[in-house]
Amino acid sequence: MAGVPDARCHSPTHPRGPTLHLAAAPPRRPWHEQEQETPVNKQADAFLVDSSTQPPSEQTAPEAGRARPHESAHLHVAGAAPYIDDLPELVGTLHAALGLSPVAHGVLKAIDVERLKALPGVVAVLTAADIPGPNDCGPIVHDEPILATGHVHYLGQPVFAVIATDRERARRAAAQAKAVLSIDPLPPVLSALEAHAKRQYVLPDMHLVRESAPGALHAALAAAPHRLQGTLSVGGQEQFYLEGQISYACPTENAGLKVHCSTQHPSEMQHLVAHALGWRSNQVQVECRRMGGGFGGKESQSAVFACVASVAAVKLQRPVKLRVDRDDDFLVTGRRHGFEYAWEVGCDDAGRVLAAEVTMVSNAGWSADLSGPVMTRALCHFDNAYWLPEVAMHGHSARTNTQSNTAFRGFGGPQGAIAIEVILDSVARRLGLDPLAVRRANFYGTTSNNVTPYGQQVDDNVIAPLVDTLAASSDYAARRAAVAAYNAASPVLKKGLALTPVKFGISFNVAHFNQAGALVHIYTDGSVLVNHGGTEMGQGLNTKVAQVVAHELGIAFERVRVSATDTHKVANTSATAASTGSDLNGKAAQDAARQLRERLAALAASMHGGMPEAVRFADDRVHVNGANLDFDALVAQAYAARVQLWSDGFYATPGLHWNRETLQGRPFYYFAYGAAVAEVVVDTLSGEHRLLRADLLHDVGRSLNPAVDIGQVEGAFIQGMGWLTSEELVWHPKTGLLMTHAPSTYKIPTANDCPPVFRTALFENNDNVEDSIHRSKAVGEPPLLLPFSVFLAIRDAVSAVGGHRVDPPLRAPATPEAVLDAIDAVRAAR
Ligand code: MTE
Ligand code: MOS
Repeated sequence: MAGVPDARCHSPTHPRGPTLHLAAAPPRRPWHEQEQETPVNKQADAFLVDSSTQPPSEQTAPEAGRARPHESAHLHVAGAAPYIDDLPELVGTLHAALGLSPVAHGVLKAIDVERLKALPGVVAVLTAADIPGPNDCGPIVHDEPILATGHVHYLGQPVFAVIATDRERARRAAAQAKAVLSIDPLPPVLSALEAHAKRQYVLPDMHLVRESAPGALHAALAAAPHRLQGTLSVGGQEQFYLEGQISYACPTENAGLKVHCSTQHPSEMQHLVAHALGWRSNQVQVECRRMGGGFGGKESQSAVFACVASVAAVKLQRPVKLRVDRDDDFLVTGRRHGFEYAWEVGCDDAGRVLAAEVTMVSNAGWSADLSGPVMTRALCHFDNAYWLPEVAMHGHSARTNTQSNTAFRGFGGPQGAIAIEVILDSVARRLGLDPLAVRRANFYGTTSNNVTPYGQQVDDNVIAPLVDTLAASSDYAARRAAVAAYNAASPVLKKGLALTPVKFGISFNVAHFNQAGALVHIYTDGSVLVNHGGTEMGQGLNTKVAQVVAHELGIAFERVRVSATDTHKVANTSATAASTGSDLNGKAAQDAARQLRERLAALAASMHGGMPEAVRFADDRVHVNGANLDFDALVAQAYAARVQLWSDGFYATPGLHWNRETLQGRPFYYFAYGAAVAEVVVDTLSGEHRLLRADLLHDVGRSLNPAVDIGQVEGAFIQGMGWLTSEELVWHPKTGLLMTHAPSTYKIPTANDCPPVFRTALFENNDNVEDSIHRSKAVGEPPLLLPFSVFLAIRDAVSAVGGHRVDPPLRAPATPEAVLDAIDAVRAAR
């Protein structure tokens, strides 16, 4: 199938991606301006259609919606994009390394600091006692000491920091942790279920219940024609950003500090550093030009590194850099929460869910970190795309002696939604129905059956047409029959197929986080500089924001430069997270640019006549009352006329509210939708599988940049597939050591794991019903849920071993070992 020109395939000759095409492609009109023959994949066609076949236009394409390469792509590929460790070091820079607890739980009796100080190159050793302010870097709950005191809670917890003349010496000294720490060990609790049995949690339980009448849920379960129950186990996932955690703190004059930090949340780092130093926020400047990936792992957990480097820098009055080694990064920081589920559903003969109850236990690790919001999002995504008339969800965030788990792309959403997908798959098997039929029977309606368990009405539901389009374009029905025929003739290799939908809520559940600011400067030569509160981590945020500004001012993209995120420029920013980066910062930058355009339009009209509102900005020119000015010339005139040529901009998402006590409200501005079909083949002797083909169809509203969006969809799919298939975290059952703490033992997907047929398309959804930035939809996280299809296709293949009569007890990740265990169980049950 690869190589066959296909309107649904964004690159017929290069199924892996459009990147090469895009880099070389001449400017094209954005997809939503083009004539299309097929309703799907307009964006994809934007890459394929020869420009000569397009109707001529007097004007270049508007910038918003244009497929462009990432603004730093040429620097990324040439190794010329500086990351923090590439910054030239200031004279006198010292290097820090963290001394980690060698035991998973215990009482910290003493630290032999003198022994460490005597080691070569060591300049200073910091312990909790050296922190001038409160010893705390918890983002929400203040339960997280920067350096351990009293107790150690996990193997890998930072207990002290060595500051040395170079990094190697700092690390050698820090590696003496076992020799210098006296700890009385206590028994560790390493699994979420063990902690749950002991009722050991980091936060109070959460319950999200919707019943038509008190007691209706259990009555509906009891009366249901079919009643099923089960358990499920889904592992965690390491973010595996390529650039590890790093902070470089440099003292500035008069009790000031500048911290270069690889973080998704510069403002929070500023606040936590100031807090640890006992300072005010205006003394601390945090800057981040770009991250080599964050994926949620640098939302809160850049804090310990920023705080340690900062405390050391201020104490010694020397620049201090703290860059952790990959193994230490794994051992110190947390990751995606693993979840354990117990569920029960009642349904009718068509597989329609009448009532569902689920208990979710997450492994929060040793502290609260973001576990509360992650569980909230899990509960708010258990419904996924389905109307569940009577439903009860119970969430427990279990406290264990492991790293503190945190944000990871999807932020609990994937963990919530995968449970209902497995449940509906089990329902279909019990009833002997195609799982797709059961899914369709349960979809949210458009005019009724469209209120979520948390009380938000789903106004923008496109899941049914989206799934219909994908089922047709992927040939789902014919391939279902082909897979059955293949399996009938193949005793060892078994194929599996699955189509799974996604509905994902966009916004932070905490309403006040949904705000952003930006600054736009026009210099007298007509060049433009933008600064906004979001951070660039490879997702293309700066590209999109620059496009928005260029679009607003009618100028070439190349005129706009985006500068590093800096707490001294835009204050009180939210984390770049929850996929809201371009929604929030794009709107704020648009607001700033619009104010500048209006000022320039007023000046142009005053000089040339006509109404300011009639002045048009396009193609680097300004059209006013029949005259046609050069943008640069107008800017120069504006400067001479003393018109303010820079502006701030601000945005707050309207209409959001959320009650943390009742878990009710309108937490999301809108929903993003998608669906995927995956086909796998499983070797039932070895338990290995291959993904043969994946068809993805994803809704990004009216794409701001289809090239970047398709990259996000593909990347999220492969990353989520890694979570569900190969990335396994193993803690030693006695010591609590995370044994999979390096790429040698922790297997992320590589280019070879991409399916040979990989078709990604953006769903034609010209409008977001809400007034989002240019009617686009957020894309960062929702497609991480698309590879549920891979997991369920593996489940389907395993199920074929038992003639689809036994529900396979497959856990995630579906490693060969997990697949073999499930096959054994299916065979034993037959
Ligand atoms: N894409 C790349 N290349 N690198 C990343 O670290 N993080 C993801 C997603 N896509 C990430 C990424 C996560 S977890 C989020 S929340 C969003 O990008 C954040 O950026 P956005 O809000 O601008 O989409
Ligand atoms: Mo993304 S997990 O919201 O940083």
